[in-house]
Amino acid sequence: MRVGIVGAGLVGSTAGYAMVLGGIATDIVFVDINSALARAQAEDILHATPVSTPARVIAGDYEALAGSSVVILACGASQKPGETRLQLLGRNRAIFEEVTAKVLRHAPGSILLVASNPVDIMTYVVSACAGAPATRVIGSGTILDTARFRALLGETLGISPQSVHAHVLGEHGDSEVLIWSSADVGGVPLEEVARRMGSPLTAEAKRRIDERVRRAAYTIIEGKGATWYGIGAALARIVQAVRDDERTVFTLSSTDTPGYENVSLSLPRVVGAGGICATLPPSLSAEERFLLDRSAEILRKASEGR
Ligand SMILES: NC(=O)c1ccc[n+]([C@@H]2O[C@H](COP(=O)([O-])OP(=O)(O)OC[C@H]3O[C@@H](n4cnc5c(N)ncnc54)[C@H](O)[C@@H]3O)[C@@H](O)[C@H]2O)c1
Repeated sequence: MRVGIVGAGLVGSTAGYAMVLGGIATDIVFVDINSALARAQAEDILHATPVSTPARVIAGDYEALAGSSVVILACGASQKPGETRLQLLGRNRAIFEEVTAKVLRHAPGSILLVASNPVDIMTYVVSACAGAPATRVIGSGTILDTARFRALLGETLGISPQSVHAHVLGEHGDSEVLIWSSADVGGVPLEEVARRMGSPLTAEAKRRIDERVRRAAYTIIEGKGATWYGIGAALARIVQAVRDDERTVFTLSSTDTPGYENVSLSLPRVVGAGGICATLPPSLSAEERFLLDRSAEILRKASEGR
């Protein structure tokens, strides 16, 4: 499978590296406005292939994306001193309109996988200008927040996070919603499992987990300036699910959001060869529904530049 990556910075290069380690792509193509960086990343990652899995890793211009099944969009400007989030959004919107048109000119059949922040709004922008079915424009959304939630619950319960089923929905950001009401381990409600494992989920324990999930990016950025491993691995995992037509469920951002109009946000999505094959409307408590509605409204306003 040929995978394009536009944006060869920390996130894009880590996604490429994770795909090489996981044997997920046979061809990886980096495109960046900084062509020297794209070339350097491609060369460095290529040197991992003899000791991991074989893949052709190159850098090029947009023409080199021809034949890509998936193109990851991890490019973008970062905030300048004194610049507001909305000003940054305006600049990134312009970049994404241009990049999407160029990608689709050379790789018209590709699935677009958006990682750049604010990811829900960028997914909305890409969907609007791609003219492709919503199923073929995927935002990484809350896949990472869901992973953080499951990892923390696993740690608290002393159970593998792979056996913990819990989701984070809505915005990838401050208004995201941790869904406690339907979380379970082996089909047993989370609260019951927690009592049985000797670590009851008190209001205080839940508050601490919520805080650590919601603030994870801030804490990591404080320590090392940016985040890249978690999202890089998540992007590679989504590509793998597309390649193998897995029909795995991830929480991802899309404009196909039953119950919400003119917005892109994360809900549980079934991912296979065609991109998002189905969206599963979640069952929520009244409070979770209220918080998800609020998150959608925040995103809708930001998408409209309000
Ligand atoms: N979705 C998530 O969970 C998540 C997690 C971490 C970071 N991110 C986001 O991913 C994006 C990339 O982060 P990063 O740390 O890799 O940043 P980075 O600055 O290291 O990389 C961005 C790259 O984009 C390139 N670029 C800028 N404008 C371009 C254009 N017009 N065409 C092609 N390339 C262009 C830059 O040259 C740079 O190499 C950011 O928006 C960041 O906020 C998302």
